[in-house]
Amino acid sequence: MHTEQRTFIAVKPDGVRRGLVGEIIRRFEQKGYKLIAMKMLDVTREQAEKHYAEHKGKPFYERLIEYIQSGPIVAMVWKGYNVIAGSRQLMGVTNPQEAQVGTIRADFALVKEYNVVHGSDCPESAEREIAIYFADDEICDEYDNMAEIVIEKLDD
Ligand code: RTP
Ligand code: MG
Repeated sequence: MHTEQRTFIAVKPDGVRRGLVGEIIRRFEQKGYKLIAMKMLDVTREQAEKHYAEHKGKPFYERLIEYIQSGPIVAMVWKGYNVIAGSRQLMGVTNPQEAQVGTIRADFALVKEYNVVHGSDCPESAEREIAIYFADDEICDEYDNMAEIVIEKLDD
């Protein structure tokens, strides 16, 4: 389904520590997505557990909760045409060893436990994850964006 969507993207603590924030944002901007919210924060245990509830009970769960709390993250909301699937294309698959060269995870990460970036996997996850990290009044969607202008022209 190719529609205007919102997604939750985060530069994980390893990405922040390694100075990859700008590089990751650049890739989303140059693709044509619209940045509508962004902040740096330390994830609380409660936020981490909510975010990764689907993985509770898996062998890697505790390490994942520790990892996402191991330093600040940069949390963002991006909007755009088919942005959920498109952003997962930009990121590459979970395991950087299997990700296609040219994707963020292939280019900047070595192992799946430290894969530098997070992105929502479906519209329901996106809205659930956005609500964990952002209040409605922290989202700034009321500005013109070139990507939107390009898509509007498609409908003419
Ligand atoms: P993400 O949610 O972070 O965007 O990544 P994803 O959808 O590609 O992968 P997911 O299956 O949702 O897993 C969430 C994160 O858990 C860590 N992981 N570790 N040790 C392992 O086998 C393992 N599997 C997953 C990764 O950090 C992954 O991004
Ligand atoms: Mg996931």
